[in-house]
Amino acid sequence: MKSRWYKDAVIYQIYPRSFKDSNGDGIGDIKGITEKLDYIKDLGVDAVWLSPCYKSPNDDNGYDISDYCDIMDDFGTLEDWQEMIDGLHKRGIKLIMDLVVNHTSDEHVWFKEAIKSKDNPYHDYYIWRKGNGKRPPNNWQACFTGSAWQYVEHLDEYYLHLFSVKQPDLNWRNEKVREEVKNICKYWLDKGVDGFRCDVITYIAKPENMNGNISYSAYVTGEHWEEYINELARECWNKYDTLIVGEATGVNKKRAEEITDEKKELLDTLFHFEHMQTDAYFGYLPKKLDLVKFKRTLSNWQRSPRSVWQSLYYENHDQPRSIPRFMPSGKWREYSAKALATSLFFQRGTPYIFEGQEIGMTNARFTREEFKDIASINILKVIDKRAPFLSNFAIKALNIKARDHARTPMQWSSNKNAGFTDGTPWMKINDNYKEINVEDDLKDENSVLNFYKKMLKVRKEYIDITRDGDYNDIDIRNRSVFAYSRTLNDKKLVVLVNFKSKPSKVKLDGIKLDNAKVILNNAGNVPFVKNGYAMLAPCQSVVYALSK
Ligand code: NOJ
Repeated sequence: MKSRWYKDAVIYQIYPRSFKDSNGDGIGDIKGITEKLDYIKDLGVDAVWLSPCYKSPNDDNGYDISDYCDIMDDFGTLEDWQEMIDGLHKRGIKLIMDLVVNHTSDEHVWFKEAIKSKDNPYHDYYIWRKGNGKRPPNNWQACFTGSAWQYVEHLDEYYLHLFSVKQPDLNWRNEKVREEVKNICKYWLDKGVDGFRCDVITYIAKPENMNGNISYSAYVTGEHWEEYINELARECWNKYDTLIVGEATGVNKKRAEEITDEKKELLDTLFHFEHMQTDAYFGYLPKKLDLVKFKRTLSNWQRSPRSVWQSLYYENHDQPRSIPRFMPSGKWREYSAKALATSLFFQRGTPYIFEGQEIGMTNARFTREEFKDIASINILKVIDKRAPFLSNFAIKALNIKARDHARTPMQWSSNKNAGFTDGTPWMKINDNYKEINVEDDLKDENSVLNFYKKMLKVRKEYIDITRDGDYNDIDIRNRSVFAYSRTLNDKKLVVLVNFKSKPSKVKLDGIKLDNAKVILNNAGNVPFVKNGYAMLAPCQSVVYALSK
């Protein structure tokens, strides 16, 4: 039976390559994580989500796995991993691993066999089709540019890869593939893992007919998807006290509610992307954040039925930093980091902190050679070839939107290489590490880091309301302030966050704050309240507790 421990938890995401290098090769590793377990404990989180650490040729930084049951050479050994999980568990922290089973690496032994011949027993582990004359079987483009189909001459067949050409998609229609996935999960669960974050899990079920002009929606929770997931849940995941959180690319709210409803045995919760699209045209071209749309989107998900649990995030390894994305940087950076956290952490759901978010790390500045992510590199290649006059524009856009921003190494101190490595870092370190780093934040009682620690304590103190309270918008049309309340019986929390670097007022929609207690505030003064309005200082965030 599931205890659903995750409903009271805050989860810290580690991108191992960029977290801490212990052996001077310039690449973060497992022993580096183990060195920092006290730091993680001290922050006050309940679980860690570790991005992939399995064997991989690193075409997509570990999201291309060549052996699911062993650790990447760059990161260490299974013994190092065991030491890390024991250290986490000793400190009362759970471990969520990344489960990447929409695709493998083309260097996985299954694929190496599969490509040998059509009658190889592993051939049917992947998705193969004949071409349309000289063209690929259908119109699908891969997420990292180019056709999603790769031709293999000696087979006269194409294989499907929704991501890079080195990430062939698995064929979930094959029962043996599903058995392999269950065995992989069981292997890690038996070693003590507490759950999985399931990479693009909504893409695993492809339609039988893929020829011609096919809508992309055909592979989003497509044919047999619920059967496959339910089989995994019943036969494996739910035999342990797990959290199963799906990355739900392409899924709308209605579908999300169907596939995370507690009454069904599917996913426990998922990451949706709707709020991440409120500052972009077509999902990628940057535009200024539309705060009202952002609030309405989040508020809409907050009003899902009780049996549906949310995952709350502003950052992860695929997103630029939330500063300056959603709030001002520069002299407002620290206020912004605290205010953003406040706006998120009192919503209903499990909040995630992405490494570095807790010290307010920001986007970096990259020259073209400094981009390391396959997504950025491939986009630049395509633009150079097809529209070279747009190259500079593309570099500018990537300097706002690239995934690289999240992946610059963690800033531990103002020492050489931000204290991340003694060697040459695998990727550029953000130039601002002398001003933004853990060591300085630990010493300053007003730092972003100390605010996070306080906020997590406050959240725990009021966990009954944050977990079970009703969510209500306050002054939803306000273009500067994000405000909401959470109500449980006669208790209420009121959250007011000014997203702008100027004083802003918010209409309290009849809520009286006269006898309210301020339980969290990122600024010196308490907002001035008069005639049903509260006046917030620039980038101020406040949480009040009230009882009737
Ligand atoms: C989603 C992951 O979060 C991302 O980093 C990766 O590139 C793709 N899935 C492919 O695995």
